[in-house]
Amino acid sequence: MQNFTYCNPTRIHFGQGQIAEITREIPAGQRVLVTYGGGSVLKNGTLDEVRAALAHAVVTEFGGIEPNPTYETLMDAVRLARATGSEFILAVGGGSVIDGSKFIAAAIPFTGEDPWDLVIRKAPVKAAVPFGTVLTLPATGSEMNSGAVITRKSAGAKLAFGSPLLFPRFSVLDPVKTYTLPARQIANGVIDAFVHTTEQYLTYPAAAPMQDRFSEGILRTLIEVGPVTLAEPEQYEARAALVWSATLALNGLIGAGVPQDWATHMIGHELTARFGLDHAQSLAVVLPALLTERLDGKRAKLLQFAERVWDLREGGDTSRAIQAIERTRAFFESLGVKTRLKDYGIGESDLAGIVAALEAHGMTRLGEHKDITLQVARQILQRAL
Ligand code: NZQ
Ligand code: ZN
Repeated sequence: MQNFTYCNPTRIHFGQGQIAEITREIPAGQRVLVTYGGGSVLKNGTLDEVRAALAHAVVTEFGGIEPNPTYETLMDAVRLARATGSEFILAVGGGSVIDGSKFIAAAIPFTGEDPWDLVIRKAPVKAAVPFGTVLTLPATGSEMNSGAVITRKSAGAKLAFGSPLLFPRFSVLDPVKTYTLPARQIANGVIDAFVHTTEQYLTYPAAAPMQDRFSEGILRTLIEVGPVTLAEPEQYEARAALVWSATLALNGLIGAGVPQDWATHMIGHELTARFGLDHAQSLAVVLPALLTERLDGKRAKLLQFAERVWDLREGGDTSRAIQAIERTRAFFESLGVKTRLKDYGIGESDLAGIVAALEAHGMTRLGEHKDITLQVARQILQRAL
């Protein structure tokens, strides 16, 4: 096992009715900026519940944070927060609203010229306005981690940044608040959580049996409850299992002390920035291709994945590894998410542009061995056609 330092300070309020806990989390009279997305929380009553829990605070609202949140929109929120003297931010929504709120939290006190430097130049986050979240979409783990992915439309860039100062103070995870999600977003959530787990698990053996078993537990749970919660959105137990699996997949626990890959995400971000694929669609396309391309380097863990996650015990090594990759692809497809670039109208003539974008964003040595060069990335994309 590798050395690690682990601290996750986010308090979780899990379960039905837990929005009421917000009242205890926020002191009376505090100036709170409530952020939300395109309106789902207005329609399904979640925002009304949040307003009721914040009756004792001084609330300003900022709506309109879009999926794949943009710097352009978020800077409007930063200006509003500065003008109203916001002391706390409460993000009500999915990963995009939460990520966007992390940027807002860091940008408000930023003293440099342009808060975009936090993202593009990784300018250190020296201060951040404290924030909490009410999660409405299980997928990203953003509700219990310190990272965010921000898009700058004018630059065609979608990039990650983070800081220990950007953990939420608390997050409310009420599975009932996710019941109104369309099937597409549920499928996306299952796949995002699945790929977060494989990014930290499908690398090479690192004598970390606990982390491996945790990861396998998350993957098996997603395979088990994913189809159930898609078919029966209001079955509480399955939805609750999805919500907690997605949080655990990216709250630092399974990644502590083990090598991590993240190439699927980095290549996927370019697909979203250039072609508008949903985040999880981009992952569903890249992961099977990447695992096939890196089969030799990942062989030992692919075989463990085949046996412990997919119960594959027949056939030679390579055959079992390939079967595991194909089972993964079939699982994504069974959730209704396509796994080929051509399914999204992307063809061979687009590949050079994607590779050039990876280069422009410094993604020239990806993967757990830093050996996914631009050439290898091109081969992965070729396999994904
Ligand atoms: O905007 P509204 O109207 O709220 O609608 C949203 C949005 O259209 C809708 N939605 C959310 N909760 C709902 C709901 N609709 C009905 N009922 C509800 N309860 O779902 C749509 C998608 O929302 P979004 O927040 O964009 O989805 P997700 O949670 O998948 O977040 C994706 C973003 O997170 C980033 C992605 O790159 C992407 O930008 N990620 C963040 C990570 C992190 N911070 O650790 C890691 C991930 O790998 C990921 O990169
Ligand atoms: Zn993701």
